[in-house]
Amino acid sequence: MKIIRDTQRNCARMAAEEYRKLLNENPHCVLGLATGSTPEMLYEELVALCKAGKLSFKDVTTYNLDEYVGLDGSHPQSYRYFMDSHLFNLVDIDKTRTHVPCGVGVTDEMAAHYDDEIKQAGGVDLQLLGIGHDGHIGFNEPCDHFPVRTHEVALTESTRRANARFFAGEDEVPAAAYTMGVGTVMAARRVLMIVTGADKADILHRAFCGPVTPWVPASILQFHPDVTLICDEAAWSGMKA
Ligand code: F6R
Repeated sequence: MKIIRDTQRNCARMAAEEYRKLLNENPHCVLGLATGSTPEMLYEELVALCKAGKLSFKDVTTYNLDEYVGLDGSHPQSYRYFMDSHLFNLVDIDKTRTHVPCGVGVTDEMAAHYDDEIKQAGGVDLQLLGIGHDGHIGFNEPCDHFPVRTHEVALTESTRRANARFFAGEDEVPAAAYTMGVGTVMAARRVLMIVTGADKADILHRAFCGPVTPWVPASILQFHPDVTLICDEAAWSGMKA
Protein backbone atom coordinates (compact mmCIF):
# COMPACT_ATOMS: atom_id res chain seq x y z
CA MET A 1 0.00 0.00 0.00
CA LYS A 2 1.22 3.44 -0.91
CA ILE A 3 0.50 6.06 1.78
CA ILE A 4 0.53 9.81 1.26
CA ARG A 5 -0.09 12.27 4.12
CA ASP A 6 -0.48 16.04 4.00
CA THR A 7 -3.01 18.84 4.50
CA GLN A 8 -6.51 18.33 3.15
CA ARG A 9 -5.92 20.65 0.16
CA ASN A 10 -2.61 18.98 -0.67
CA CYS A 11 -4.27 15.58 -0.39
CA ALA A 12 -6.74 16.72 -3.06
CA ARG A 13 -3.87 18.05 -5.20
CA MET A 14 -1.90 14.81 -4.89
CA ALA A 15 -4.97 12.74 -5.70
CA ALA A 16 -5.60 14.99 -8.73
CA GLU A 17 -2.01 14.37 -9.83
CA GLU A 18 -2.70 10.60 -9.80
CA TYR A 19 -5.63 11.25 -12.15
CA ARG A 20 -3.57 13.57 -14.37
CA LYS A 21 -0.99 10.82 -14.84
CA LEU A 22 -3.57 8.10 -15.43
CA LEU A 23 -5.67 10.09 -17.91
CA ASN A 24 -2.60 11.13 -19.87
CA GLU A 25 -1.26 7.56 -19.98
CA ASN A 26 -4.62 5.96 -20.65
CA PRO A 27 -7.18 8.47 -22.04
CA HIS A 28 -9.78 5.67 -22.45
CA CYS A 29 -9.60 4.56 -18.82
CA VAL A 30 -12.57 3.54 -16.67
CA LEU A 31 -12.96 5.46 -13.42
CA GLY A 32 -14.94 4.37 -10.37
CA LEU A 33 -16.10 7.56 -8.68
CA ALA A 34 -17.44 8.51 -5.26
CA THR A 35 -19.56 11.28 -3.76
CA GLY A 36 -19.77 12.82 -0.27
CA SER A 37 -17.66 15.59 1.25
CA THR A 38 -14.32 13.82 0.85
CA PRO A 39 -13.90 14.04 -2.95
CA GLU A 40 -15.26 17.59 -3.30
CA MET A 41 -11.80 19.23 -3.23
CA LEU A 42 -10.41 16.58 -5.57
CA TYR A 43 -13.16 17.36 -8.08
CA GLU A 44 -12.33 21.09 -7.78
CA GLU A 45 -8.71 20.28 -8.59
CA LEU A 46 -9.69 18.07 -11.53
CA VAL A 47 -11.93 20.79 -12.96
CA ALA A 48 -9.04 23.28 -12.67
CA LEU A 49 -6.60 20.86 -14.37
CA CYS A 50 -9.09 20.22 -17.16
CA LYS A 51 -9.70 23.96 -17.69
CA ALA A 52 -5.92 24.46 -17.79
CA GLY A 53 -5.67 21.82 -20.53
CA LYS A 54 -3.59 19.47 -18.38
CA LEU A 55 -6.01 16.57 -18.59
CA SER A 56 -9.05 15.59 -20.58
CA PHE A 57 -12.04 13.40 -19.73
CA LYS A 58 -13.11 13.23 -23.39
CA ASP A 59 -12.69 9.47 -23.75
CA VAL A 60 -13.10 8.46 -20.11
CA THR A 61 -15.91 6.20 -18.87
CA THR A 62 -17.11 6.50 -15.27
CA TYR A 63 -19.12 4.35 -12.87
CA ASN A 64 -20.21 5.79 -9.55
CA LEU A 65 -20.35 3.73 -6.41
CA ASP A 66 -23.86 4.37 -5.26
CA GLU A 67 -27.19 6.19 -5.32
CA TYR A 68 -30.04 6.70 -2.86
CA VAL A 69 -33.13 4.58 -3.46
CA GLY A 70 -36.05 6.80 -4.41
CA LEU A 71 -34.10 9.83 -5.64
CA ASP A 72 -33.90 10.49 -9.35
CA GLY A 73 -31.13 12.50 -10.97
CA SER A 74 -33.03 15.78 -10.76
CA HIS A 75 -33.15 15.61 -6.95
CA PRO A 76 -30.46 17.97 -5.56
CA GLN A 77 -29.35 15.35 -3.01
CA SER A 78 -29.10 12.54 -5.55
CA TYR A 79 -25.60 11.39 -6.37
CA ARG A 80 -26.24 11.88 -10.10
CA TYR A 81 -26.99 15.54 -9.36
CA PHE A 82 -23.85 15.76 -7.18
CA MET A 83 -21.63 14.34 -9.92
CA ASP A 84 -23.14 16.56 -12.61
CA SER A 85 -22.70 19.70 -10.54
CA HIS A 86 -19.26 18.93 -9.05
CA LEU A 87 -17.59 17.34 -12.06
CA PHE A 88 -19.41 16.18 -15.17
CA ASN A 89 -20.97 19.54 -16.15
CA LEU A 90 -17.64 21.31 -15.58
CA VAL A 91 -15.27 19.13 -17.63
CA ASP A 92 -15.11 17.86 -21.21
CA ILE A 93 -16.59 14.44 -20.40
CA ASP A 94 -19.12 12.76 -22.69
CA LYS A 95 -22.10 12.47 -20.31
CA THR A 96 -23.34 9.35 -22.09
CA ARG A 97 -20.24 7.59 -20.73
CA THR A 98 -21.02 8.54 -17.11
CA HIS A 99 -22.92 6.03 -15.02
CA VAL A 100 -24.52 6.40 -11.61
CA PRO A 101 -26.75 3.57 -10.34
CA CYS A 102 -30.37 4.45 -11.03
CA GLY A 103 -32.26 5.36 -7.86
CA VAL A 104 -35.81 4.68 -9.04
CA GLY A 105 -37.73 1.75 -10.50
CA VAL A 106 -34.83 -0.70 -10.14
CA THR A 107 -35.13 -4.42 -9.41
CA ASP A 108 -32.36 -6.48 -7.76
CA GLU A 109 -31.61 -8.01 -11.14
CA MET A 110 -31.27 -4.58 -12.77
CA ALA A 111 -28.98 -3.42 -9.94
CA ALA A 112 -26.71 -6.44 -10.36
CA HIS A 113 -26.55 -5.73 -14.12
CA TYR A 114 -24.39 -2.70 -13.22
CA ASP A 115 -21.48 -5.11 -12.54
CA ASP A 116 -21.91 -6.69 -15.99
CA GLU A 117 -21.81 -3.23 -17.59
CA ILE A 118 -18.58 -2.44 -15.72
CA LYS A 119 -17.04 -5.72 -16.88
CA GLN A 120 -18.12 -5.07 -20.48
CA ALA A 121 -16.46 -1.65 -20.28
CA GLY A 122 -13.19 -3.41 -19.38
CA GLY A 123 -13.34 -3.12 -15.59
CA VAL A 124 -12.46 -0.18 -13.36
CA ASP A 125 -8.88 1.09 -13.69
CA LEU A 126 -8.99 3.36 -10.64
CA GLN A 127 -11.66 3.23 -7.94
CA LEU A 128 -11.99 6.31 -5.75
CA LEU A 129 -13.22 5.70 -2.18
CA GLY A 130 -14.02 7.63 0.95
CA ILE A 131 -14.81 5.83 4.19
CA GLY A 132 -17.87 6.06 6.45
CA HIS A 133 -17.54 6.41 10.22
CA ASP A 134 -18.72 2.81 10.54
CA GLY A 135 -16.19 1.62 7.97
CA HIS A 136 -18.54 1.48 5.00
CA ILE A 137 -17.18 1.74 1.46
CA GLY A 138 -19.73 2.66 -1.15
CA PHE A 139 -22.79 2.00 0.96
CA ASN A 140 -21.64 -1.46 2.02
CA GLU A 141 -22.56 -1.21 5.67
CA PRO A 142 -21.13 -3.43 8.44
CA CYS A 143 -22.81 -6.84 8.36
CA ASP A 144 -21.97 -10.54 8.67
CA HIS A 145 -20.63 -10.97 5.12
CA PHE A 146 -19.03 -9.01 2.28
CA PRO A 147 -21.71 -8.38 -0.37
CA VAL A 148 -20.24 -9.15 -3.78
CA ARG A 149 -22.35 -7.43 -6.43
CA THR A 150 -24.25 -4.17 -6.81
CA HIS A 151 -27.32 -4.42 -4.59
CA GLU A 152 -29.84 -2.54 -2.49
CA VAL A 153 -28.83 -1.94 1.09
CA ALA A 154 -30.61 -0.49 4.14
CA LEU A 155 -28.61 2.45 5.48
CA THR A 156 -27.56 2.30 9.13
CA GLU A 157 -28.62 4.92 11.63
CA SER A 158 -25.01 6.13 11.84
CA THR A 159 -24.85 6.71 8.06
CA ARG A 160 -28.23 8.42 7.93
CA ARG A 161 -27.17 10.67 10.83
CA ALA A 162 -23.85 11.51 9.13
CA ASN A 163 -25.58 12.32 5.82
CA ALA A 164 -28.41 14.34 7.42
CA ARG A 165 -26.20 17.43 6.96
CA PHE A 166 -27.05 17.36 3.24
CA PHE A 167 -30.83 17.10 3.85
CA ALA A 168 -33.41 19.11 5.80
CA GLY A 169 -33.10 16.54 8.61
CA GLU A 170 -32.32 12.89 9.37
CA ASP A 171 -35.87 11.83 8.51
CA GLU A 172 -35.36 13.14 4.98
CA VAL A 173 -32.35 10.87 4.36
CA PRO A 174 -33.51 7.88 2.28
CA ALA A 175 -33.55 4.62 4.23
CA ALA A 176 -31.83 2.65 1.49
CA ALA A 177 -29.32 2.93 -1.33
CA TYR A 178 -28.00 0.98 -4.30
CA THR A 179 -24.31 0.34 -4.01
CA MET A 180 -21.57 -1.46 -5.85
CA GLY A 181 -20.71 -4.58 -3.86
CA VAL A 182 -17.46 -5.10 -2.02
CA GLY A 183 -16.59 -7.60 -4.75
CA THR A 184 -17.17 -4.90 -7.40
CA VAL A 185 -14.84 -2.55 -5.53
CA MET A 186 -12.16 -5.22 -5.02
CA ALA A 187 -12.22 -6.03 -8.76
CA ALA A 188 -10.85 -2.55 -9.57
CA ARG A 189 -7.25 -2.70 -10.77
CA ARG A 190 -6.31 0.14 -8.44
CA VAL A 191 -7.98 1.80 -5.45
CA LEU A 192 -7.41 5.34 -4.25
CA MET A 193 -8.89 6.08 -0.84
CA ILE A 194 -8.97 9.59 0.58
CA VAL A 195 -9.55 10.02 4.32
CA THR A 196 -9.53 13.41 6.02
CA GLY A 197 -10.52 14.78 9.41
CA ALA A 198 -9.99 13.75 13.02
CA ASP A 199 -13.47 12.18 13.07
CA LYS A 200 -12.15 9.50 10.66
CA ALA A 201 -8.99 8.69 12.69
CA ASP A 202 -10.49 5.81 14.66
CA ILE A 203 -12.12 4.08 11.69
CA LEU A 204 -9.00 4.52 9.54
CA HIS A 205 -6.98 2.71 12.20
CA ARG A 206 -9.57 -0.07 12.50
CA ALA A 207 -9.76 -0.49 8.72
CA PHE A 208 -6.03 -0.82 8.08
CA CYS A 209 -4.59 -2.04 11.39
CA GLY A 210 -7.45 -4.19 12.69
CA PRO A 211 -8.70 -7.60 11.58
CA VAL A 212 -10.26 -8.00 8.14
CA THR A 213 -13.96 -8.35 8.89
CA PRO A 214 -17.25 -7.49 7.17
CA TRP A 215 -18.10 -5.60 10.36
CA VAL A 216 -15.54 -3.04 9.10
CA PRO A 217 -16.15 -3.31 5.34
CA ALA A 218 -13.14 -1.15 4.38
CA SER A 219 -10.82 -3.64 6.11
CA ILE A 220 -11.11 -5.86 3.00
CA LEU A 221 -8.79 -3.37 1.28
CA GLN A 222 -5.93 -4.94 3.25
CA PHE A 223 -6.27 -7.77 0.68
CA HIS A 224 -6.26 -5.48 -2.38
CA PRO A 225 -2.89 -5.55 -4.20
CA ASP A 226 -2.83 -1.87 -5.24
CA VAL A 227 -4.25 0.64 -2.76
CA THR A 228 -3.10 4.24 -2.46
CA LEU A 229 -4.22 5.84 0.80
CA ILE A 230 -4.18 9.62 0.86
CA CYS A 231 -4.98 11.12 4.23
CA ASP A 232 -4.44 14.29 6.22
CA GLU A 233 -2.56 14.43 9.51
CA ALA A 234 -5.80 14.58 11.51
CA ALA A 235 -7.06 11.29 10.08
CA TRP A 236 -3.59 9.76 10.35
CA SER A 237 -3.38 10.58 14.09
CA GLY A 238 -5.27 7.34 14.90
CA MET A 239 -2.64 5.26 13.09
CA LYS A 240 -0.04 6.38 15.59
CA ALA A 241 -2.15 5.18 18.54
C1 F6R B 1 -20.09 8.03 -1.43
C2 F6R B 1 -19.75 6.83 -0.70
C3 F6R B 1 -19.54 6.79 0.76
C4 F6R B 1 -18.69 7.96 1.28
C5 F6R B 1 -18.62 7.90 2.81
C6 F6R B 1 -17.85 9.07 3.38
O1 F6R B 1 -20.26 7.77 -2.80
O2 F6R B 1 -19.70 5.83 -1.31
O3 F6R B 1 -18.92 5.58 1.10
O4 F6R B 1 -17.41 7.90 0.73
O5 F6R B 1 -19.91 7.90 3.34
O6 F6R B 1 -18.60 10.24 3.15
P1 F6R B 1 -17.98 11.67 3.41
O7 F6R B 1 -16.91 11.87 2.40
O8 F6R B 1 -19.13 12.63 3.19
O9 F6R B 1 -17.46 11.67 4.81
